[in-house]
Amino acid sequence: MFFKKRCSLAEKGNRESIIKLYRKAWLGGYAIGAFNFSTMDLVHGIHETAIAMKAPVIIATSQGERNFFGCEESVAVYNVLKARHPPTILHADHTKTLEELKKVVDAGYPSVHFDGSGLDYLTNLEQTRKAVEYAHAHDVFIEGELGGIPGGSSLHKESIKSVAKEEYLTHPEQAKDFVNRTGVDSLAVNVGNAHGIWKDAPKLDFKRIQKIKELTGKFLVLHGGSGIRPIDFRRAIAHGITKININTEMRIAFEKAIEQGLAERTDDTPYKYLGHAHEAVAKVVRDKIVIFKSEKKA
Ligand code: 13P
Repeated sequence: MFFKKRCSLAEKGNRESIIKLYRKAWLGGYAIGAFNFSTMDLVHGIHETAIAMKAPVIIATSQGERNFFGCEESVAVYNVLKARHPPTILHADHTKTLEELKKVVDAGYPSVHFDGSGLDYLTNLEQTRKAVEYAHAHDVFIEGELGGIPGGSSLHKESIKSVAKEEYLTHPEQAKDFVNRTGVDSLAVNVGNAHGIWKDAPKLDFKRIQKIKELTGKFLVLHGGSGIRPIDFRRAIAHGITKININTEMRIAFEKAIEQGLAERTDDTPYKYLGHAHEAVAKVVRDKIVIFKSEKKA
């Protein structure tokens, strides 16, 4: 009964079709943007831009964002958007426990990120292996994480050096062992990146990206995309990155636009002042799709 319900929410062959989108990006020398949302204005701004630019797109929710929007509501919206634009993937960002991972898989998320980076290596390995087993049994694509990505998706006053520590970096040899023993479909790496926008831009270690790619052969994911310079995105893609996560830049654009919309409103109609937010988010997404070279790749 429960299994039947799950199958009606996600299509069969889902994982393979997501792998195909990633493979196409890797072979085509571009990256797929993963954009976080927690309101309809955000998801519309993201998705309409992807349609207009004929780009594959990942719409993602962190745990907090999912709790706010609703886990099943996210899946319902995804089903509508995917019917409109097939290269759309709904992704659960940073699930940190097996319970949370099961919750999103059971709700019908076709793609998940299991983030065991806060655990010691062997526990991360063991938990990720169990997460992979559950995800694959439900035809769900799964991203693992090795080397913690510090910071949160907001504006930080400090230098990125205050959080970009050597101990968080992903070690290529360990990454090889991790992907072989867990069977993840993709891997989030720390190569000098951090979540959020910092006083200075991150210094990415491109040789490390290349080495991890060579040793693992997996699709690599760059978290903490906000604040990274366009030239560095291009180099990261050329060295092995296939998916790039963006959140903070949209959050800031959204907030400023709503403030402006409220300040300039002539009546109390929500869609009038919220309309500004929609366009502000679309602009961030448009710029990233150009930088990631995913335009006209749908
Ligand atoms: P930013 O907030 O730095 O864009 O990072 C987003 C992210 O990596 C979500 O997982």
